[in-house]
Amino acid sequence: NWSMDDFIEMQIEHIREVVGDKKVLLGLSGGVDSSVVGVLLHKAIGSQLTSIFVDHGLLRKNEAEQVMASLSGKFGLNIVQVNAQKRFLDKLTGVSDPEQKRKIIGNEFIQVFNDEAQKLEGIDFLAQGTLYTDVIESGTDTAQTIKSHHNVGGLPKDMHFELIEPLRTLFKDEARELGEKLGIPHDLVWRQPFPGPGLGIRVIGEITEDKLEIVRESDAILRDEIKKAGLEEEIWQYFTVLPGIRSVGVMGDGRTYDYTVGIRAVTSIDGMTADFARIPWDVLQGISVRIVNEVKHVNRIVYDVTSKPPSTVEWE
Ligand code: XMP
Repeated sequence: NWSMDDFIEMQIEHIREVVGDKKVLLGLSGGVDSSVVGVLLHKAIGSQLTSIFVDHGLLRKNEAEQVMASLSGKFGLNIVQVNAQKRFLDKLTGVSDPEQKRKIIGNEFIQVFNDEAQKLEGIDFLAQGTLYTDVIESGTDTAQTIKSHHNVGGLPKDMHFELIEPLRTLFKDEARELGEKLGIPHDLVWRQPFPGPGLGIRVIGEITEDKLEIVRESDAILRDEIKKAGLEEEIWQYFTVLPGIRSVGVMGDGRTYDYTVGIRAVTSIDGMTADFARIPWDVLQGISVRIVNEVKHVNRIVYDVTSKPPSTVEWE
């Protein structure tokens, strides 16, 4: 019988008690959970919190800027932004297996985070946006081996932090409610799920800067059109993928031989099962026309009409 206001009060008091005058480190991903933890901790302990935001170059268009503008700008969090794009891309060169890509991105993430954490002194606590569902999933951890998720775990091994996980008892919708209460922008709070490996698993096969650019730009157009059509809240997750195939097309008076972009949009409750979203034809057409016109080297758009199972939400 508690309200979200009580929860905030209690958490703030609890965090202050546990942390005392010590320092806390937080890894910001740009997602809802870590953002909520960041704002909550900042409210509780202010400048005793330092956040690290790793830009692995696999983020969506303008994502890094938006996170920094909101959390650093509006809320005043002290954020160390690490531009590690090249580091990740170098490690990923020549790699096309999805699980291998996930592993490399996950490991590199930890390394970059560690490198930065090591530069900071006197940190005693590590804060994480672990949700109740993460606790359950990592506890049973049987059905989740289809793709290796790396939300929990991956803690710096040679560092001895105590963990602070203020969202551990909350479900996703409660974490969002908490975010709204804390004044975090609606767009950030209701952001669709975005996988840790980011656009890295949406460029199918080997990742190159050029292919990332196509996915990033087409994804931005898709999101823009979905928003304009007022479908944002109906569709659980929507994004573009680059399968890497090229096909023949005609533009102006010339033949083209360019990439196909796939659109994936699903309705779902929790991502465990999903159905492809029934996006109206005219909305799809608008998206298709814009992507082909605005994104270089794309001459064909396909829409994914499979559900999960038998498909997964992501293509890798
Ligand atoms: P799948 O493709 O497994 O996706 O049907 C279900 C949900 O999980 C997200 N997903 C990931 N999230 N790391 C993450 O943090 C990952 O490696 C990963 N793979 C998939 C996916 O975006 C969808 O929301």
